[in-house]
Amino acid sequence: MAYDRRKFITFLGKASLGAWITPPFLINYEGAATPVNAEGASKDTLEALKQLALEALAASDKDDLLLTKGLDYHTVIKWGDKISEQDTFGFNNDFTCFIPLDEKNPKDGLLWVNHEYVHPLFVSGFDYKNPASKRTKAQVDKEMYEVGGSIVRIKEENGQWKVVENDPHNRRVTAKTPIKLNWDHPIEGKTTVIGTHSNCSGGITPWKTFLTCEENYDSFFGETEYDENNVATKRPSRYGWEKFYNYPPEHYGWVVEVDPKEGTVQKHIALGRFAHECCTLYQLADKRVVAYSGDDKNNEYLYKFISSKPQSLKEGTLYVADVENGKWLPLDWESQSVLKTKFKDQTEVLIRAREAAKLLGATPLNRPEDIEIDPITGHIFVSLTNNKSKNDFHGSILKVEESEGAFDALTFKASTYKAGGEENGFSCPDNLAFDLAGNLWITSDMSGSAMNKAEGPYMPFKNNSLFVIPRYGKDAGKVIRVASAPRDAEFTGPWFSPDGKTLFLSIQHPGEQTTDLKNPTSKWPFDEDNIPKPAVVAITGSLIEKMNKLNQIED
Ligand code: FEO
Ligand code: CA
Ligand code: CA
Repeated sequence: MAYDRRKFITFLGKASLGAWITPPFLINYEGAATPVNAEGASKDTLEALKQLALEALAASDKDDLLLTKGLDYHTVIKWGDKISEQDTFGFNNDFTCFIPLDEKNPKDGLLWVNHEYVHPLFVSGFDYKNPASKRTKAQVDKEMYEVGGSIVRIKEENGQWKVVENDPHNRRVTAKTPIKLNWDHPIEGKTTVIGTHSNCSGGITPWKTFLTCEENYDSFFGETEYDENNVATKRPSRYGWEKFYNYPPEHYGWVVEVDPKEGTVQKHIALGRFAHECCTLYQLADKRVVAYSGDDKNNEYLYKFISSKPQSLKEGTLYVADVENGKWLPLDWESQSVLKTKFKDQTEVLIRAREAAKLLGATPLNRPEDIEIDPITGHIFVSLTNNKSKNDFHGSILKVEESEGAFDALTFKASTYKAGGEENGFSCPDNLAFDLAGNLWITSDMSGSAMNKAEGPYMPFKNNSLFVIPRYGKDAGKVIRVASAPRDAEFTGPWFSPDGKTLFLSIQHPGEQTTDLKNPTSKWPFDEDNIPKPAVVAITGSLIEKMNKLNQIED
């Protein structure tokens, strides 16, 4: 089924009529679409677009959130803030996503935020760099509370987004929340498992639920590894939670769906088990869905799931990308005899998706991170953040064009859209977001231990940053730095509000290199506690409004 721009960008059409806009996938697909593109623009708008020029921010190692001219920010919520009588906002926020409660009001809705992992020193007091210190169960319990995700209702009033305290929707999902498996067979004996963690990026569904992806799950409960004779051994985790809670590694590494209204949570086994960075959905005209997800590990793969039933994340086939030959290879135990030589059934293929993908001859990639669909062309963009094992220090952005623009095609063409490095001014692309006019916003993720090191490859880039590639104007196609992160931090979870006027952005792991609480490497956001705190901010301002000028294009 070919890409239908008219349907995919209905939200732009709505904007041009002066109404508010829904994000992709929350579109009324049946509604009258208004194709919006540069050809449809009024003369004045086109002229303004041509003149659009951005002032780039210089690279900086300052411990602050710096913004280029035309942008402002305010903090929406930070680690430890109360969200209800019993719950507080978790640590290290990543994926951030907003769904309005009432489609007629873009300024009041539910914010979902992932909490990926913890810095033990800040969260539980465990001194991980001191070999003499031993983690206690109480410390692990604290850490388990701080991961997962938060749902908070937020409202914008007078240009400021604020949390609605104690709203009945406000709640936490943690490493202790019971979660059902959306599968017909138990996994390691269970159909309901305990908790989610390692929640990196995510996605939303057309039926208005959040997807949160379990990425480096082996950090908490380890991994089951198989040798050449298919004999299993357990590899211990970095955090050692398995010493206190005997939860099998196979219960983690999935895409998790959260229904914010019902409060239900489920894990989708059909999408495979690996270090899921994100899960990006496209709904076909017959309401079947296509879900893209990358495995963020050196030399791992890009996957897509095509459902066989409308709006199902269970019925369908998982494919892995053979990028060299432009083919999607089915991870299907029934039809692939090579999979039968190693795995006993489809459930095992999905649990050990990495090994199955390798057997099929998938193409190893340089750590696939976020995936976004260009609303104007329907092309799929994948961040390949880096691969030091292959001397790729700066990464690139891969463009995938499905054959004939059909998201359920089994062949595609792939090419490098933009390479990281000094020439293009960015390194280690991670999260991506298209705004309503089709400008591409990119966050970088150079690791805290490698940034600002005099002899290292990342020195010229200084702190992690937010960049934009304008689609129109004098800077079209150039990578422009528009925000610089506090020390050791990365920006994560860029997400535009439905009217395109606010960019929600997470500030993750400021001061991550801290080894002494009295002397943290960052103090952002400079509150009374004097320690760094991950937080979600709202970025607004004339630049975002100008960049989204296409919203004003008339029919
Ligand atoms: Fe959690 Fe791949 O970043
Ligand atoms: Ca990421
Ligand atoms: Ca990353």
